[in-house]
Amino acid sequence: MIDENGGGDANLANAWEEIRRLRLEAYVADLDAHGYTAIPPEIACPDGLAERLLEAALNVGERRNGVRPDLAGGTTHAGFKGRFASFSGADGDSPIGDLMQSILFEDRVFEEALMNPVLLAMATYLCGYGVVLSSMGCFMKGPNVSTFTLHTDTPLPAPLPPQALVCNLTYVLTDFNRENGSTAFVPGSHKWCRSPVGQEGVVGEGGNPAAVPVECKAGSLLVWHGNTWHGAFNRTAPGLRVSLPVYMARPYIRTQEGLVGKIPQEMLDRNSPRFAILTQQGIMYGYESQEDSFARAERAAKYIAAYSKSGVGPLAQQGLYS
Ligand SMILES: [Fe+2]
Repeated sequence: MIDENGGGDANLANAWEEIRRLRLEAYVADLDAHGYTAIPPEIACPDGLAERLLEAALNVGERRNGVRPDLAGGTTHAGFKGRFASFSGADGDSPIGDLMQSILFEDRVFEEALMNPVLLAMATYLCGYGVVLSSMGCFMKGPNVSTFTLHTDTPLPAPLPPQALVCNLTYVLTDFNRENGSTAFVPGSHKWCRSPVGQEGVVGEGGNPAAVPVECKAGSLLVWHGNTWHGAFNRTAPGLRVSLPVYMARPYIRTQEGLVGKIPQEMLDRNSPRFAILTQQGIMYGYESQEDSFARAERAAKYIAAYSKSGVGPLAQQGLYS
């Protein structure tokens, strides 16, 4: 699945070794069979990572909205009229709640979330050693009425390629179940290589009967293939659903966040060479002139060379970033 532009056998062997070392085989099998998997807290978030992410997310919410999010009651986000609210008609609320974007720079714990070996092993399995961060954000959803339509994260015409071009690794920071407005998945849909059409994309009453709510505890890492049909149930319980999606892509896919040249040197210095690759510093695309293309290629090559030397995994030297 990770094979890409050469170096495939060695890359696969390395990735599999890492998967075995972290005892993730069963979750990889689940992912292959169903298109998604929930890795439990004790494996996904040791050292209190989930608790620290939740605290940091609540701090971001407070800074951006001027009020501390009401985790237990959900009053700060009930019937939230944010993004996509118009999809649900004049009386609708947002099916996703408050989406706070570009949070990487707001707390060091978000760097830790990106560098979590479990997350990286799964992302590498799906999108190769050249995988990059497309975006890191945080959803906060209170009690609402709107469900989120099923879709794939690969917005291409059918047939979609069977290998993942993108993948989503979401930190579940509060318990997920139907009442709490969890993510909805159609098991096995990643194999269909197309997006849902019309009524088959509807979640909830009268909608797609194959869409099931995922149930997992706070601290789980929910991983899915870019082709998997997913959406969300509305939240009927009080309180907030808090989740932190780490959305990742192969390096030639356009990313949601533009991080090339935007990472402070001290942030690069305190992390491994892979961090630079993950935060897009190995990408030369986006040049503005012949001169700029050379400068960017040289800059990207420096980060790729450092990553290749670090021994994390053999990067394909040809084609990956060209
Ligand atoms: Fe999505």
